[in-house]
Amino acid sequence: MTGHFPFPRLPYGWFLAAQSSEVPAGAVRTFCYFGEELVIYRGQDGAAHAVEAHCPHLGAHVGEGGCVVEDTLRCPFHGWRFGPDGQCVEVPYSARLPKVGMRAWPLVEKGGFLFLWHDPDGNAPDWTVPDLEEEGWTDRRCVDFTLRSHPQELMENTADIAHFGCLHGARNHRYLRQWQARGPFADTKIGFSASGAAVGAPDNFVDLEINFALHGLGYLVIDSHVLDANLHGRVRVCATPVDADHVRVFFISNVRKMADPAFTGMADELFFQAAKADFEQDVRVWSHKVYRPRPVVVPGDGPILAYRQWANQFYQPRAA
Ligand code: FES
Ligand SMILES: [Fe+2]
Repeated sequence: MTGHFPFPRLPYGWFLAAQSSEVPAGAVRTFCYFGEELVIYRGQDGAAHAVEAHCPHLGAHVGEGGCVVEDTLRCPFHGWRFGPDGQCVEVPYSARLPKVGMRAWPLVEKGGFLFLWHDPDGNAPDWTVPDLEEEGWTDRRCVDFTLRSHPQELMENTADIAHFGCLHGARNHRYLRQWQARGPFADTKIGFSASGAAVGAPDNFVDLEINFALHGLGYLVIDSHVLDANLHGRVRVCATPVDADHVRVFFISNVRKMADPAFTGMADELFFQAAKADFEQDVRVWSHKVYRPRPVVVPGDGPILAYRQWANQFYQPRAA
């Protein structure tokens, strides 16, 4: 038996690798994603770059003693230096510059996070990480978990309306806008009544409208509007494969600022705690469930099969 999940390979797309603060200027940090070790370093010019972890010369791990020199990465073993595109730019003891390089990963930095592009066929990105409105929103809170799961499993919850009732205690959950796919993107909007914990009224039920926007299998933006309190909260769920069977999932939350800063601060904290508590209910299920490739789906389950058909594209080779 190979992996736990039956998917033919890891999906392509943009995946969140780290918070920007994890890689300060001049730092070299090691990560394990997509079954590979890679390093992300930040040049003295402030730009971050991602390359494979092992030097093409004799194979030293550049995350173990390597250092940043201007915008290049210097291997600790013999001092070869590599530029942002991974190409060797200096061998300190040889006039001949070999035509070798480290494999560089496409990387973008947005909103305080570093995203990697993964494509098993090595094709360049053909969509971009979305720009989200940050002005007028509170600072993002981020926690992350590593669990035995897969991005496709996590993102399936957007198409699984029935679980909102059973697992999260929602009532009157319904689609306000049908699940809709557009190339690598998909979105849907649901409404329900839920515990008012997010607005400090856990004994009351409040009405929510929640928009889900999927950007591939790695990045989900959940915009929640608590109607009674006119609170806008946003959760980003970013799922990055560590290997075929494990995923590092980032849970990131903030709220739109309201007129009263003290009230905003309180709402920010309550929303984070309530949304994280819901999320942890999902994490428990994800960590222990199996993937059913041919599930029995009944009316009321939501567009799970349409979701899976959409998700299937991320395992197919794309035209170069
Ligand atoms: S192994 Fe990296 S410079 Fe020799
Ligand atoms: Fe859920």
